[in-house]
Amino acid sequence: MKKLVVLTGAGMSAESGISTFRDAGGLWDKYPVEQVATPEGYAANPQLVTDFYNERRKQLLTVKPNRGHELLAEMEQFFNVTVITQNVDNLHERAGSSRVIHLHGELTKVTSSWQPNNPNYIKELKPEEYEVKIGDVAADGSQLRPFIVWFGEAVPMIETAIDYCEQADVFLIIGTSLNVYPAAGLLNYVPAHVPVYLIDPKQVPIASGRPVHVIQKGASEGMVELKRLLVE
Ligand code: OAD
Repeated sequence: MKKLVVLTGAGMSAESGISTFRDAGGLWDKYPVEQVATPEGYAANPQLVTDFYNERRKQLLTVKPNRGHELLAEMEQFFNVTVITQNVDNLHERAGSSRVIHLHGELTKVTSSWQPNNPNYIKELKPEEYEVKIGDVAADGSQLRPFIVWFGEAVPMIETAIDYCEQADVFLIIGTSLNVYPAAGLLNYVPAHVPVYLIDPKQVPIASGRPVHVIQKGASEGMVELKRLLVE
């Protein structure tokens, strides 16, 4: 089977009711990114940051995958699919995608404040544990922190993601403004002969100037069109 590698961003989950970051009224308008998505913000006000991620976690219980997530999962009938997502929600998994690489972490997990990337300390929360409190500790005795890659932190999954990009037969980008590196640079690892598709209702500039087949639609409608182009 040919390998379809997909890079997704916040726009993938927009139709599920999860706000994007940089669109008008997006999350970074309401919550300053320096406060809730940097190690410095966490050090300055751990309670505020803990509350912010508790809210995001609880939102997962009220949303569900949209048609775009489902169609992407259905593409596994025709392709060997790898989803590389910048999203911290679990909607790709819940839609049935079997290989999902989370570049920016996962809301459903928490970890040690001292060694956030040590697998021994990464823990999956059950829904009844979604409300993390200051004072809850990891196995090493440190405060439990969200398993989220904050700005300024290393992105441990990027090497794995690059490997998949280098092996792609078809590459697809959905719902990301391509503002945040290293994720935005993954396209540069996709071999030159590989066709690249981009689904987004807005125009997304491609820094390298590489030609892209643009489907200027939302994720659900865009996936219907992509499926038509690739498999029907
Ligand atoms: P952005 O908010 O920067 O971009 C969202 C993109 O989704 C934009 O290009 C929108 O046009 C598009 N979009 C909006 N509605 C859509 C829909 N219905 N269907 C498809 N696309 C739609 O979000 P990201 O690019 O994902 O990182 O942001 C990247 C990273 O920045 C995030 O992972 C997060 C953020 O800060 C961290 O928190 C570390």
